[in-house]
Amino acid sequence: MSNLFPLGIATGDAFCNRVEQRRILQDNMLHSRHTLIVMTRRYGKSSLLAQTFDDTAQAYDHHVMEKLSLLTVYDVDSVIRVILNSIGKLAGKMLPKHEMAAHALKQFFQRMHPEWSIGIDGPRVRLSAKPRAIEMLTEAILDIDRLAMEKGFTLTLAMDEFQQIAMLDKKDALAIEAAIREAAQNTKHLCLIFTGSSRAMLTLMFEDQSRPFFHLCEKITLDRIAEDEYALFLNKAAMGQWHQQLTDAAMSAVMQCTRRHPYYMNALCACLWRYEQPPTASEVQSEWLRICEQEGMRIAKDIAALKPNQRAVLQSLALNPIQSPYSQAYLSRINLSNGSMQRVIPFLLDHDLIYVDESKHYRLIDPCLEQYLVSLSI
Ligand SMILES: Nc1ncnc2c1ncn2[C@@H]1O[C@H](COP(=O)(O)OP(=O)(O)OP(=O)(O)O)[C@@H](O)[C@H]1O
Ligand SMILES: [Mg+2]
Repeated sequence: MSNLFPLGIATGDAFCNRVEQRRILQDNMLHSRHTLIVMTRRYGKSSLLAQTFDDTAQAYDHHVMEKLSLLTVYDVDSVIRVILNSIGKLAGKMLPKHEMAAHALKQFFQRMHPEWSIGIDGPRVRLSAKPRAIEMLTEAILDIDRLAMEKGFTLTLAMDEFQQIAMLDKKDALAIEAAIREAAQNTKHLCLIFTGSSRAMLTLMFEDQSRPFFHLCEKITLDRIAEDEYALFLNKAAMGQWHQQLTDAAMSAVMQCTRRHPYYMNALCACLWRYEQPPTASEVQSEWLRICEQEGMRIAKDIAALKPNQRAVLQSLALNPIQSPYSQAYLSRINLSNGSMQRVIPFLLDHDLIYVDESKHYRLIDPCLEQYLVSLSI
């Protein structure tokens, strides 16, 4: 049986729901609407992207897609290399025959010495840029857009870990952002998708009026998968494994422990689905405690890095999620001034430690961290 609960990217049978976001993302891709996907770490950005790519590849022959990761870039040239490499792959997918490519390449990517080649991942066009030639980013993006128009294709280029650009030297970062923006606002056949694991940094890059990416993209945000969607998904997986559904008690234990955080849902269910029989609620709880123990080292490090006020608020929200952290009653309960709270809450939100749930309660994002802090208070 396929791995229904991967700790890495989930697609196919392992992918639960997100129907609406897949539809919107696909529509943006087909209509060249640049898109920013922002959400908390390990909520499923890469999985949403991978699944939507699969959906689109099955339904549309003339839409070609590439995904790149900027995780390891360290300077302007490494950024240019990574992006040109993917643009070359897109070109290779539209020009799979050498003769066609040779002809087409006379008119495109001229300053980048294009060379058609066939590698282990299929045909591609090798593009090379001069050192620090940031303007070639603009040129290459516009050329691939023109090539797509000429060949009757639409394209998507997804850039993951995009916040890494902002971590380069500030002048270089702004120059790269400006070069990409310059091209992006003139493309008609190419959709650029930006995503990354730092929600706070991406938000700053795309929502600060003084930055080049301001107002360039439509934004997609993701919440947790709804409880009834997860229940359907898990019961289907349970039928496949044990020919019976989970009991209501076991199902609600799974929801309660993981708080529907997709990463922890998969970590827990991967253990439970090794059982011979469907797990009971108490087996769910003990597996969950075991997972939290394993995460203990990382959690202890995260907590140690916080200031005392931040720790105090986090601990109190782990025990009691609340709607109004600035109310006088709450401030006196945890013995903090309004001024301190005005700093702590935005910090915890920006660092993806807490979020505001559907019922407007401030609560912890990481269910293991929550469990750990609760266990310290007992
Ligand atoms: N729709 C989904 N259905 C089932 N599992 C999912 C879904 N989305 C994400 N997951 C699971 O959640 C975890 C995190 O997914 P993914 O790597 O896609 O998140 P991410 O937001 O890209 O993470 P990061 O912030 O680290 O880049 C993985 O275990 C993945 O299998
Ligand atoms: Mg990811």
